[in-house]
Amino acid sequence: MSLPSSAPPAPRLSRSVLTPAPTQTLTQRLAAIRQATNPAASDANTLTREFSFQNADFERVRKLIYAKAGISLSSAKQDMVYSRLSRRLRATGKKTFSEYLDFLEQRKDAAEWEHFVNALTTNLTSFFREPHHFPALSAHLRHIAAKRKQINIWCCAASTGEEPYSIAMTVADTFTGLGGAMQISILCSDLDTNVLATAEKGAYFPDRVEKIPPEQLRRYFSKGTGSQEGMFCVKPELRRMLTFRRLNLLDSVWPVKGPLDVIFCRNVMIYFDKPTQYKILSRFAPMLQPDGLLFAGHSESFLHASDLFHSLGKTVYELAAGYPGHTPAR
Ligand SMILES: C[S@@+](CC[C@H](N)C(=O)[O-])C[C@H]1O[C@@H](n2cnc3c(N)ncnc32)[C@H](O)[C@@H]1O
Repeated sequence: MSLPSSAPPAPRLSRSVLTPAPTQTLTQRLAAIRQATNPAASDANTLTREFSFQNADFERVRKLIYAKAGISLSSAKQDMVYSRLSRRLRATGKKTFSEYLDFLEQRKDAAEWEHFVNALTTNLTSFFREPHHFPALSAHLRHIAAKRKQINIWCCAASTGEEPYSIAMTVADTFTGLGGAMQISILCSDLDTNVLATAEKGAYFPDRVEKIPPEQLRRYFSKGTGSQEGMFCVKPELRRMLTFRRLNLLDSVWPVKGPLDVIFCRNVMIYFDKPTQYKILSRFAPMLQPDGLLFAGHSESFLHASDLFHSLGKTVYELAAGYPGHTPAR
């Protein structure tokens, strides 16, 4: 059967549309195919979206979150920004992104700024994430316990608490049986006030604690009751080591008491550009003990700050050899 001559020719899909770039998400592929098959509906997302969200709005969001939190959003994050901030438009009764962003900027409303920043942070974390770091931490703690009895640790992107509690369990396991009263202080900070509130509660649903070995789960958690029924709650003995504080790594003043033996700064630098990373690293360096350690995330490299930090492998860093006062950590 042949098509009537008035029928539009079937769209020809180019090879580049049919063969997706390896980094394309499913949403991006679908958008590319939609665009190729029906260019008239040039922005299908815009047509089906609840709120008007133009490129100019996305650029505005990008500038604002960069200035507030140092977070560099790539252009691939447009859909993410739309879905996360749509909730704020509903909550504030705004009809378009441009109206919401005007409101945000004109009102200088601290609470809305907090919601805006909280909505745009990515808080993925888990207990004993990047597990090789914890035996390394334990070995370092044993090494420094021979020299001093006060140990200060800063976990500067603590998210919902799984990371600092993993640190605390490692500390507690390390010092059991070592004797001598060790003074341990673990400062847990994050920019996002919502995740920090969850961290402070220290109560987790069963699927969140799956990665904790059963023996540690028994030792450091109790079964929740009342509103925490069905949850695993951090025991006060562990909780006592931790202090929680909202802290933006971009702020000019950090209320953090040094000298620090260990800094955990994992999976947050990836959101910052290199100059911002360097600025933060140059403030970490003088806060560390000469033999202190910096733990970074699996995809973070500080080679551009080799005057400050030297890699010990597996994303663990010590102060660079030329750094004033540096003492090899091991
Ligand atoms: C992906 S999570 C990483 C959590 C944890 N460190 C880990 O590796 O599992 C990144 C965290 O960095 C926080 N963050 C983003 N920008 C920040 C900033 N400017 N200052 C402090 N924390 C920030 C986010 O709120 C988020 O909780």
